[in-house]
Amino acid sequence: MDDIFYRLPKAFIFVTLLVSAEAAWTPCSSTPNVSPKPGDPALPSLPPSFQTRIEANILDANYSLSAVEYVDDENNRAALRMWRNGIESDVYFDYDNNQIFSVVENTCTVSNLTGDANTVIFGGGGAAGGIPHVYSTAGVLHFAKELGETYMGSATLVRGLKANHWQTCMYWPVVRANFTLDYYFSVPGWNNSAGTPSVPLRAEVTGVYTIVNGVTQQFHHIYDYIDFRTTPPDDPSVYETPAGISCPGRKKVRDMPKLKSKYYYREEIISPGGQQIQQADVWYDFDWQLLRYDSRPLDISPPYNNLNPYTEIHDYNTGVAYAMDKLIKNCTIMPIENGTWDSAYNSSRQFLHMRSPASLFFLDDSYAYSGQRKARGIDCDVYTSTRSDFSDGLNVFEMYFLREDWSAMDNIGFDTDTPDIPIRLTITGAGDFGFTVIYELYDFDQETPDIQTAFDISNCYNDLEKIDFRITFPSKAGNLLAEYRTIFIDQAILLIASLSGGLSPLRITHTEVHWDDNNVYMVGTLLDKAPPIAKYIKSPSKVAPFKNAQTLQGVTDPYSCAEQCDSVDTFTCNSFDICAGKQVCTLSKDYNSDGAKLSDSLECDHYTRVVGGRVDKEIALNDAWIVLTDQVVKGTFQVTLNLDDGSKQVLKGSDITSDVLRNPNRVASKTALQHFSGQANKQVNGFDDLILTQVSVDDCANECLGEIIFTCQSFEYCYDTGYCIMSHTHPDERPDLIIASDHCDLYTRSYMAKFTETPGTTVLSSSDTIYQNINSDNQCARLCVDYNEFDCKSFDYCPNINTCFLGKKHVFDVPKSNIKEDPQCNHYSRNYADDFKLKAHKEIALRDNRVIEGVSAEQCAKMCVEEESFSCASFDYCGNMTECRLSDAAMSDVGQVTIQASTFCEVYIRSYYPDGSVYTKPTASGYSSGAMGGLGFAMLVLGALLAVGIYVAIGKYQGKSLDSMTISFKNMENSD
Ligand SMILES: *[C@@H]1O[C@H](CO)[C@@H](O)[C@H](O)[C@H]1NC(C)=O
Ligand SMILES: *[C@@H]1O[C@H](CO)[C@@H](O)[C@H](O)[C@H]1NC(C)=O
Ligand SMILES: *[C@@H]1O[C@H](CO)[C@@H](O)[C@H](O)[C@H]1NC(C)=O
Repeated sequence: MDDIFYRLPKAFIFVTLLVSAEAAWTPCSSTPNVSPKPGDPALPSLPPSFQTRIEANILDANYSLSAVEYVDDENNRAALRMWRNGIESDVYFDYDNNQIFSVVENTCTVSNLTGDANTVIFGGGGAAGGIPHVYSTAGVLHFAKELGETYMGSATLVRGLKANHWQTCMYWPVVRANFTLDYYFSVPGWNNSAGTPSVPLRAEVTGVYTIVNGVTQQFHHIYDYIDFRTTPPDDPSVYETPAGISCPGRKKVRDMPKLKSKYYYREEIISPGGQQIQQADVWYDFDWQLLRYDSRPLDISPPYNNLNPYTEIHDYNTGVAYAMDKLIKNCTIMPIENGTWDSAYNSSRQFLHMRSPASLFFLDDSYAYSGQRKARGIDCDVYTSTRSDFSDGLNVFEMYFLREDWSAMDNIGFDTDTPDIPIRLTITGAGDFGFTVIYELYDFDQETPDIQTAFDISNCYNDLEKIDFRITFPSKAGNLLAEYRTIFIDQAILLIASLSGGLSPLRITHTEVHWDDNNVYMVGTLLDKAPPIAKYIKSPSKVAPFKNAQTLQGVTDPYSCAEQCDSVDTFTCNSFDICAGKQVCTLSKDYNSDGAKLSDSLECDHYTRVVGGRVDKEIALNDAWIVLTDQVVKGTFQVTLNLDDGSKQVLKGSDITSDVLRNPNRVASKTALQHFSGQANKQVNGFDDLILTQVSVDDCANECLGEIIFTCQSFEYCYDTGYCIMSHTHPDERPDLIIASDHCDLYTRSYMAKFTETPGTTVLSSSDTIYQNINSDNQCARLCVDYNEFDCKSFDYCPNINTCFLGKKHVFDVPKSNIKEDPQCNHYSRNYADDFKLKAHKEIALRDNRVIEGVSAEQCAKMCVEEESFSCASFDYCGNMTECRLSDAAMSDVGQVTIQASTFCEVYIRSYYPDGSVYTKPTASGYSSGAMGGLGFAMLVLGALLAVGIYVAIGKYQGKSLDSMTISFKNMENSD
């Protein structure tokens, strides 16, 4: 009897039936289909859903229990919570799947709904056949008309309330029981909390049942229904088995989702006991055997030694961990620890391996479906397992997966929607351990993590341990890479990694791909191998005796011994002992991770390989470089792209160079920007007179200014490789050739800096040189600078008629009457001081070739430039007496020039010719205006007309007869 009681704690009616009572009972006869007498009140009709409190008084056994019952007909669910003698028993009815879960003291048992005694109170039962469902309240309360009820009057008081009373005489075949059932309902007209005309108040059962043939027992119990309401709670958790409890044998509505082999997620690790949240990011790639974990240390301990956020990358190809401080950006290369959460021992506990996609979350067959619950307001399918492999003692694991009818639009990668998304994992220590850890999982994306950004260990290597390279693939298929860029890079990395017996894919980093019409370029950085010592876990003061496959003398430190172990060819060395004092290094084929097998030693240390399986003999940086270049040169470096349409595109590397500069400063200095105007991510097709490599953007600008073979009018600076591509063509002439570039910036020679603008003004000068169809003041400035029929000192530019007038005279040199207002045009006069570098509070001692007084610094600069009797290389300008001292002293005159401090003077050192090329002091005497490109322009010579008059003429004929005289820029031929 005790046994039965134990097994069925949930079934209080049934339980009470098992207990005999002394009270006398007169059997009644079952009265099926009795017809109500005329005038009897009709049965109350009740809503299908309700909640009520129940007090059950089991008179024959001297106890009471209380209960709450929820019936939600709309959602086809119900639950019952009971308290008896301080113990709670809960019953959950899963009508969809015909099962009942009863939970007593954190233990859940599953039974069939059909035929279960609990259905007696909730209705149903096997007799009806088919899948049972929640019965109406009338059914639930066994107010079943088919059993026949007799109205017994309304005078009765229940708890002081006036009640209608019905009686039924029943036979219950399951336990062969005969009993009377008395029902009491509140009389209509008596208001109640539910707001319905009549609510049940009480049921009373009195009867006898058969234990075994011939042995009967009597019973008597009273159920009081209190606080009957027609609105069951909405909260789904009321109807679901509680979190942290698994119900073995529960039917699976959905097989537990399987995780893919690659994923990324972000998590919050919540420790309610510790009142703490820890955040972490995880990138996981089982195929590539890589894992990255970003977090913040909980305490100060090696390798971090501070509380800065860190990135830790585990490479299970080699057993090496890269620990990086995200703020200081330093790195420690070390073995993967044996206690790390992402690793597991092999069965004989000798070496580590990476946990599989599922086992990272401890997912396996032991999980039972636990129904649907909400996590963060999201509907989830929950799977539960009780297991002992997480900590000492039993723990309940609950994994929440996004319900199948939900979708998650992630913001990562190609796939818009990741199915089977884990939402939450909770781990609860069962029994006395009582702790809870909640892993809230966010942004779960089951795609290949971007190896480039996710697994970047380049901070762990210095510049000598890296080779930057660029591989050229002659191919016109570059545009395909707009779509297949990541795939191409991944393929190329895998290809490089597979060369020469295998490099870890981590060693190919910072890869980029770009292309032009004829080539695809891959730029990347090759890293050195990890130090061999980082592949072995140290057991200090231990040795593995009698395990010597090879003994090496004269080895003094563990690094060299590890190097030996890692590179030995004749066998696979999996552990070694190093006895530094004796200078003995002993290599062994065995793993000896289990410290118990090792002997103590005063002067030796034992090291054992972190990972098992195939051991890749990683080659060092220079060897890897040789192998890679060899493959490219031989034409065997081929990347195959499998396209969506089923076709293949093979890209064959033709050329490889390490002549690149990675991550140079992309931002040009102010000085460079004085001479060039920059356009980010632009390039010009076919503008490549000269290519320099491994230079900075400022060096490129200087090279362009100093170029003497051709006049460098523009350059492209490729900030991924440090390539500097110079051209004699000015992009303003061919704006149509400018295209977007994903790796280069375009710098166009700017001539405007050489002029000072006076807006709304023209200056009459005796020049007849006029250009039409000039699109910008910069173009006009360039014409002025490059003009060599006379020394162009200024120009007027009228944007409304796209016309450019070159001037022979500087604004300093014309009479005031020649300066006119003209709102449509602007005047520009040459700055000379900009061609000089200024050193304040200095003067050049005793080298004055000519001294002029009463001029401005700008005028002084002009005089220096125009000086013909000697090559003026610098001047002093002393502000207190407006004195200008021209000098042929150049800074290159090493040893002959003394610069000394001065309170009022400044030294201007000549740096550029008027055409912008770099000033070099001529060795012979005589003035050179620098390299002038031949002007490929036709010129419109209209004779000595006043500029004002020309405006009128052009305005009048614009678009008509003057068209025949239209001048346009054309590509200058390269000339010297
Ligand atoms: C429940 O009933 C089904 C048949 O209806 C039977 O196959 C199953 O074994 C039963 N389960 C339990 C726990 O009694
Ligand atoms: C119940 O009543 C039936 C007749 O209606 C009778 O045959 C049976 O013996 C009774 N059982 C008990 C336990 O009194
Ligand atoms: C970074 O440098 C600090 C200070 O030298 C050191 O304590 C710490 O261990 C280093 N961190 C890593 C991850 O190497």
